[in-house]
Amino acid sequence: MQTLTTTKTSGIHALNDVEMQTPVKLSALDGDWLEDFAHGAFQNKGGELWNAIQFMLYDLNLKVISSGFGLDSARGEKDWMLRNTIERVEQMYLSKEMVPADLTTADDFLVWLKRRIAGHRVNHHPLFDYFDADSLSSEELRYFLSNYRVNMQRFHLHVAAYSLIVPFEMRQELYNNLHDEFGQGNFAKAHPNLFEPLMNHFGGARQEDINPETCHLLNTKINLCWFADGLHYGLGGMGALELSIPAQQRHILAHLRRIGLSEQLVEFFVVHCECDEDHGDGWFAAGLPYMVDREDFQRVFSGAMRMLDARAGVYDGILAGSLRRRNPHWSPRKSSQLVSYHNYFELT
Ligand SMILES: [Fe+2]
Repeated sequence: MQTLTTTKTSGIHALNDVEMQTPVKLSALDGDWLEDFAHGAFQNKGGELWNAIQFMLYDLNLKVISSGFGLDSARGEKDWMLRNTIERVEQMYLSKEMVPADLTTADDFLVWLKRRIAGHRVNHHPLFDYFDADSLSSEELRYFLSNYRVNMQRFHLHVAAYSLIVPFEMRQELYNNLHDEFGQGNFAKAHPNLFEPLMNHFGGARQEDINPETCHLLNTKINLCWFADGLHYGLGGMGALELSIPAQQRHILAHLRRIGLSEQLVEFFVVHCECDEDHGDGWFAAGLPYMVDREDFQRVFSGAMRMLDARAGVYDGILAGSLRRRNPHWSPRKSSQLVSYHNYFELT
């Protein structure tokens, strides 16, 4: 039986170095067990099984980012089996909300979609009440930024990966977006470079800050953009993200200014408040010719809501983590299912 191993800092790894050299044989029982495990995870989002899956996928995805897919390797075979099974199960638990039947043109659909994006709970998250009230400590801001940074650093990679499967004409919008992400030709202003001084001002990022919900957003982006099933899910997801980011970041920017940070330190948030709404409109305008029928609308809508739900989850995780840190009596729950999972994969 293949084993999965854990580290204190980053959760569960699919294969260690020795196992990567070993041919993988997964029996039907292994696959069935994994499927049952995934059902258990997605039936209790935020529970320990779900958390374990998110850390595991996160590690797989970082490995893909650093080393590629590993075609013809044991890692590649095992990773595909894991991510394909988990994605199939996750889809069973996604919202089944349908686009209203009276929306028959792409223009009408987009008006409706943008209203739904603006009204999504991610834009009205209670975490922003803490920013508005200036009631976050310096350490809580560091913790927030540390989780934010995980997805911020890799945003451009999702645009680039997704661009591989969209029509040639649509790539123009995506590569314009990448040009902005890289500081419009000034690498010092590339968005990850703008973020680091702010992160360091609050003490820097730590591996142990990373929440499972933060991993889930990265995993969701990878599923929609790197393993895209057609262009519509990624279009909905990435367009919705870009459209909604300014509404969220205005709370953060205003707070950082009120506590006296310089314009240089908050430049990352200034830039995004100014340009991401245009990016979102640009994505949907570029995708408009490919939103032809109601099946297309449904996929775009599903991708948008799935992505915004995952992003709202990041805020849920940060808020819960901050409140747990404020309460010294909090302790994590033990799950008998997780013990079973550890035993099954011989986790150490
Ligand atoms: Fe950016």
